Order: sequence, then C-alpha cells, then structure tokens
Amino acid sequence: MGSYKIDNLEQYFATYRSSVENPESFWETIAEENFVWRKKWDKVLEHNLKEAEVKWFLNAKLNITENCIDRHLETNADKTAILWEPNDTEEKPRHISYKELHEQVSKFANVLREKGIQKGDRVCIYLPMIPELAFAVLACARIGAIHSVVFAGFSSTALATRINDSECKMVITSDGAFRGGKTIDLKKIVDEALKECECVETVLVAERTKSNIELVPNRDFLLQPLLDNASQHCEPEIMDAEDPLFILYTSGSTGKPKGMLHTTAGYMVYAAYTFKNIFQYQENDIYWCTADVGWITGHSYILYGPLANGATTVMFEGVPSYPDFGRFWEIVQKHKITQFYTAPTAIRALAKENLDFVEKYDLSSVKVLGTVGEPINEEAWHWYNDHVGKKKSPIVDTWWQTETGGIMISPIPYVTPTKPTYATLPLPGIQPGLMDENGKEILGNQVEGRLCIKFPWPSMARTIWGNHQRYKETYFTAFPGTYFTGDGALRDEVGYYRITGRVDDVIIVSGHNLGTAPIEDAINEHPAVAESAIVGFPHDVKGNALYGYVILKEIGEGRNRENLKKEINQEIADKIGPIAKLDKIQFVSGLPKTRSGKIMRRILRKIAANETENLGDISTLLNPEVVEGIIKGK
Ligand code: PRX
Repeated sequence: MGSYKIDNLEQYFATYRSSVENPESFWETIAEENFVWRKKWDKVLEHNLKEAEVKWFLNAKLNITENCIDRHLETNADKTAILWEPNDTEEKPRHISYKELHEQVSKFANVLREKGIQKGDRVCIYLPMIPELAFAVLACARIGAIHSVVFAGFSSTALATRINDSECKMVITSDGAFRGGKTIDLKKIVDEALKECECVETVLVAERTKSNIELVPNRDFLLQPLLDNASQHCEPEIMDAEDPLFILYTSGSTGKPKGMLHTTAGYMVYAAYTFKNIFQYQENDIYWCTADVGWITGHSYILYGPLANGATTVMFEGVPSYPDFGRFWEIVQKHKITQFYTAPTAIRALAKENLDFVEKYDLSSVKVLGTVGEPINEEAWHWYNDHVGKKKSPIVDTWWQTETGGIMISPIPYVTPTKPTYATLPLPGIQPGLMDENGKEILGNQVEGRLCIKFPWPSMARTIWGNHQRYKETYFTAFPGTYFTGDGALRDEVGYYRITGRVDDVIIVSGHNLGTAPIEDAINEHPAVAESAIVGFPHDVKGNALYGYVILKEIGEGRNRENLKKEINQEIADKIGPIAKLDKIQFVSGLPKTRSGKIMRRILRKIAANETENLGDISTLLNPEVVEGIIKGK
C-alpha cells in the first residue's frame, strides 16, 4: 500500500520497497485516494520500454483542471491559489483565490472555444510571468487543447520553429514584458515569428506594458475585451488518461528542439504526489518556486503540482537583481514564504553580492529550500544552507528533466537525510540504475556510470511530438529496456546519488539546456564563418559558459575580429535567444577531428578549461597538428 504523504524514514523505506515490488498497486492506491476521476481506469500500466511505449491508467477519464481548481471550491474557495508578485516593488501583489482562478480559467477557456480551438489543437503560449500565463495554460487544459509554452526569452526564429513543429493554430502573447529595468516588446517578436508560420489563425494579446502594438485585422485580438464578454461557466472537456496535456520543447544534442509530449493522468498523479512529499506542503504554507512557467519546473511545480494539492503558489514576474540583489529575500519576508525553490545559478549570483542583501531580511518562515536544474557546487550549497536556511531548513537537491515530468531523485525534507551536492535517494516508484559503456548495469555502491531509469513512472514523456522514432533512439536504444537520461552519476557508499553532469553534447548554462548543434548552425550562417564548434567551460555564476571555436572563410580573414565576434553573438541571439550567446570566441585554423570526421570536443573542452597538460593521445586524430595552434592562440 502506498501512502500519499511520507512522514518518517521508516515509512520512506517501506513505501519505496512496496513501490518497487508492486508498482502498479502502489500507483493505483495513490491515484485512487487523492484525485477526482470521471471514470476509473481498466488497467494501471501497459509498457514496452524497448519500443518506447508506455500507458498509465488506461481508459480512465478526467479533467486536470477539475483536480487543480474545481474540487477545492467546496472547502477552499477563498484560499489564495496564486499569489502574484509583480516586477515593480511599487505595484501591488495580487491574491488570486481558487474561486477567482475558476472564473478566470473558465472565461479564458470559453474565449478559446469561441475562437475555434478544440480538443487536440495546439496553442502556443508566449507570455511573461503574469497571471494570464497561468490562466492560459489552465484554460487550454480545461478544453483539452494542447499547450506549448515557449519561454518568453526565446527569439522570433526559435519561436517560429516551435510554432511550426507542432502546427499551433493560436498564439497567446502580451504587448510586452517587464523584466527588471527592461521592457521587452513581445508582440513585435511574435509578429516577426509569424511571418514564417502559416498555421497560426489567431493571436490573443494580453496587455501588460501598454506599449504601442499593431493588431493584424482578423488575426490579432486584445484579450481583455473578449474575457469581459465571456461566460464564467465552462464545462470541462472529459479527457482520456493518455490524451495529450502539453508539449514542451527541450534542446537535443543534435537537430531541432524536441517537443516532449506529456499526457494527462500519469503526469497529474506524479506532479501532485511529488509536490506534496518533496516540499512537505501543509495547509496554510506559502510555497514559492522562482522558475519561469516556460520551463518544466514551472509547469509541474508552480502550476499543476501545487494546485492539485490546493496549495498557495507564488508567481514572480521579475528577476532576483531588481531593484537590488535583496529582492528574493524581500519577497520571502513579505509573504512569509515557507518553501523556497530556485536554481543553483541564482544562488551563485546572489552569493557573490554583499551579505547584507540577505541578512537584513527576516527569513524565519522558511522550512524547506530546494534547488533544481544543474549540479549545485559545494560552496553554493553551504551559502544557501548558512545564510538562507540558517542551518535549520533542509535543502532538497531535486534531480529531474523535462522528459521525466516530475522530480525523480531528491531528499524528502525532515524524512530522509541530505548531503551537500547529492540528490540522494530515488522517490517511491523510481528505479535508477548506473550503466557502464558496454551497457552492463554496475551494481553495488561507490560506483559511477550513466544514469538510467529501469522501470516506467507515471509522468514520463510519451513521445517527441511528430517523431516517435527520434524519441526511441534518443532515450531507449543506448541501454535497451531502460530510459537513458543523458546524465552521468555516482552512487556513494550508502547508495546516495550525485549527478555529475551531461554525458552528451547538451551544455547547461545558468540552468538552461543548450544543444551544441543548433548554436553551431546559427554561427555557421554568418557569411564569414566556415565551421565552428561549441563547448562548455566552468563559470562561477552560470555553472557553464559557452566557448566557441570558429574557422573563418577567406572573406572573413581580413575583417576586424572584435566586430566579427559581436556579429556572431548577434546571429545566435537572433536565431536562439540571448541565453545562448558565447562568452568566448576563438578564431582557429582547424578543428581536431577523428578519422571519421567527428569533432573531438573532449580536446576542445580541455583547452577551454585550461587543462592542456593531459589531453590524452592525440596521435590518432586526422589532424593532430591543429591542437598546438589552438592552445597557442588562446
Ligand atoms: O543534467 C541534468 C540537469 O538538468 C537536465 C535537465 O534539464 P531540463 O530538461 O531543462 O530540466 C531542468 C529542470 C528539471 C538534467 O538532465 N539537472 C537537473 N536537475 C539537476 C540536474 N543536475 C544535477 N542536479 C540536479 N538537481
């Protein structure tokens, strides 16, 4: 029997054991006791991991918004569901109750229906962190439309690629966005993107910055007047357990971004279950996750997980450095935040500033701290523990991915122990394994290998939108019968996991996944560039920064190098977004390659990190002579 809330260590071990011995009855109990179903399932699980096929709660019927909103109305209608904190400290926060959320989502859903959106249609959401973003996501879910949220920091080209890949019929955006001291013209970016997107019929525009925008007749509509005229009653679409809920794009090491598809019931059950346990959420807690809803963390742990538990979840529009580096802590004090969940890159950036920024606020409300997105280094962990948690709030280092839908390996605060830089133990239902390069599982403790998950869990992505073959090849062929995460990990003497980083060509910069291939493609589009290679190198705030090695064409040789560097970074900002800009660019005459022509990034990584003493055997390269030139030219 599984218990929804785990309260002590013994219970964790007992629950874990039963979840592994009998996963189906474990998840069945959780699903049965904690959610609203229009119809229960006929079967809990069907799977064939070799073919990348998984189904949970077969033939069950539900609507996730009934679970996240309607069912709380009876007892908690006036409780704050979303506490919105604006960018500007002068502007008032908004407390959106469950009742108001219900009204707003219902109206929005009716607007979507009125504009011709039906179950299964894709809707792209390109919005800043304003309440309309939450309403839009939930409105899609209400009517069974598949939302595809694109982070509002992506460029018009990146947006267009994502809109076209899943053939979105509608885009929901705003006139602009406030981010710290800056105003960003989102609508202009959308207009630019839509020049390349024939599939989009309608654009809904929320007004935030009141900036000057152009509305294309019959295509663009201001949102508010439509909402004002919409009914606040909206019958939810009854969804099958395996009906798609959303697509979320993530970078791959090659090719275009992967539209990870998540389905309804399994995702809901897992997001809700993990939220409750990992944050030990209790009635009246005020929980804050600083992520953007544009990433999976925002989907699962700002919206769906907390709302399914009837929690109060904070949504912050701004940035940690505005108006100064004390903003996070000012918000924690003001709203008496009880659980605070952020990224190592934010912690490192804040730890560099004067301690006064954190010390001057009362953080005594905090009970649990969390991190996500990349490995947290020891120094940042201790700073977080000492100065934010005052050594009394356990830190949950939560390992997971866009693909996994929810947290997979993490301490459970006040229940299982923590260890600096370790994600520690798998959650109930999660069966990790470490594999060697030959595909054999490495057993025992004090070992290191490639991290796989050996058994399906409810919130795993079901496919890559439009390309099941790629899904299968990327995640299920390296170690047949298991899901391969792309990460390396070690297991210590007592069985705790520590994630060591990516083992493929994905680089994590400030917690954002960036594939090398799309960045190289962007650089190579510059007319002066012949070829390029990107690697990551250690950076004290971002974790990793990007180092680009660029070979110029003849026409580039005579050009001013500093101008070229600026143009190359502009090319990247236009094609992908400012987050993918290179910190360093080195012009080189050649790139080290294997005899089959593959770029040896291992060598380039070492040069970028100044670790040139131990480059390994380079004699097998096609062109070993270029290596010395690259080192000298650094
Ligand atoms: O390399 C791991 C790293 O982030 C990757 C997943 O990125 P994304 O899909 O963008 O999702 C991020 C938010 C869930 C992983 O493959 N990663 C994530 N969390 C951790 C981590 N690395 C170490 N420790 C973590 N806690």
